[in-house]
Amino acid sequence: MLPINLAGKRALVAGVADDGGFGFAIAKCLAMAGASVSVATWPPALTIFRNLLERGKIDASRRMPDGSLLEFERIYPLDAVFDTLDDAPAELRESKRYKDTGDFSIGGLAAQLVADFGERPLDIVVHSLANGPEVKKPLLEVSRGGYLAAVSASAYSMVSMLQRLGPLMRSGGSLVSLTYMASERAIPGYGGGMSSAKAALESDTRTLAFEAGRAWGVRVNTISAGPYASRAASAIGIIDRMVQYCKANAPLPEELSAMEVGQAAAFLSSPLASAITGHTLYVDKGYHAMGMAVAGWSDVVAGTAG
Ligand SMILES: NC(=O)c1ccc[n+]([C@@H]2O[C@H](COP(=O)([O-])OP(=O)(O)OC[C@H]3O[C@@H](n4cnc5c(N)ncnc54)[C@H](O)[C@@H]3O)[C@@H](O)[C@H]2O)c1
Repeated sequence: MLPINLAGKRALVAGVADDGGFGFAIAKCLAMAGASVSVATWPPALTIFRNLLERGKIDASRRMPDGSLLEFERIYPLDAVFDTLDDAPAELRESKRYKDTGDFSIGGLAAQLVADFGERPLDIVVHSLANGPEVKKPLLEVSRGGYLAAVSASAYSMVSMLQRLGPLMRSGGSLVSLTYMASERAIPGYGGGMSSAKAALESDTRTLAFEAGRAWGVRVNTISAGPYASRAASAIGIIDRMVQYCKANAPLPEELSAMEVGQAAAFLSSPLASAITGHTLYVDKGYHAMGMAVAGWSDVVAGTAG
């Protein structure tokens, strides 16, 4: 038996605010492999997430194979578009959802991790967050502000996280992010500059793999996941059709589960992947390999596909 064993490792998963996305599934898989897992949550979603946990609303998803409940070592506030607290406008800092959260910047997160656990407390960092305020607009209609906001929240956030969390990581550590094939193929409906942000994220994965490997012995990889109806993906507006289309046309004609992405992330984060860095790993039922559709939108809409 060759197990994924993360006993004694500490992980931080950024981008968890409910049990419906990849971040939660990745956190659960890392914990199933034995890691201690903290999460970082966007302040506007923090209270709702804490309530979900406290009121037992997501206990079914938290249930571990041994019957215990998935517990997070810490839940940190994080708004990944800010590198330091000073970068956040005063109006936002004083707004209802932010004012009691402390330092919610990436720098603040790094400082709090050191305060909580010491100088080099981390082995695993997961970047599972994205935001594109104009995601429903085709690129031809996207404003400069919308485009840059997508790249800031969805791509530069990873660069900034590695700048600030890399020095906190122990040698052999791993950063994994989540990307989507709209970076390399046109996906109608995935707008707002999100395709550009994912292209940047994948390119940065290669460059950061080199730099972080040399600086700290840390590996950097990204998972190109197939479509999945998370909360964020639902904002795209056509996610259910994207899921059905992939199911109908992929080599493995099945819906992707979040846990399948979680398992791949656990592998990439583990010593079993010690020679893998700078890589984009497709976890999409093989859809990326296709060059011709076997079922069209009309079959999907009519419910006659796969
Ligand atoms: N769902 C899909 O179809 C799909 C496919 C490929 C890749 N991905 C990627 O997977 C990752 C996770 O998304 P998901 O689909 O699991 O949805 P999700 O809703 O579970 O996760 C997105 C998270 O990002 C957080 N977030 C948004 N802006 C933030 C900010 N400024 N600072 C901190 N957190 C912020 C949200 O609160 C949310 O928790 C994203 O990078 C997404 O692009 C998703």
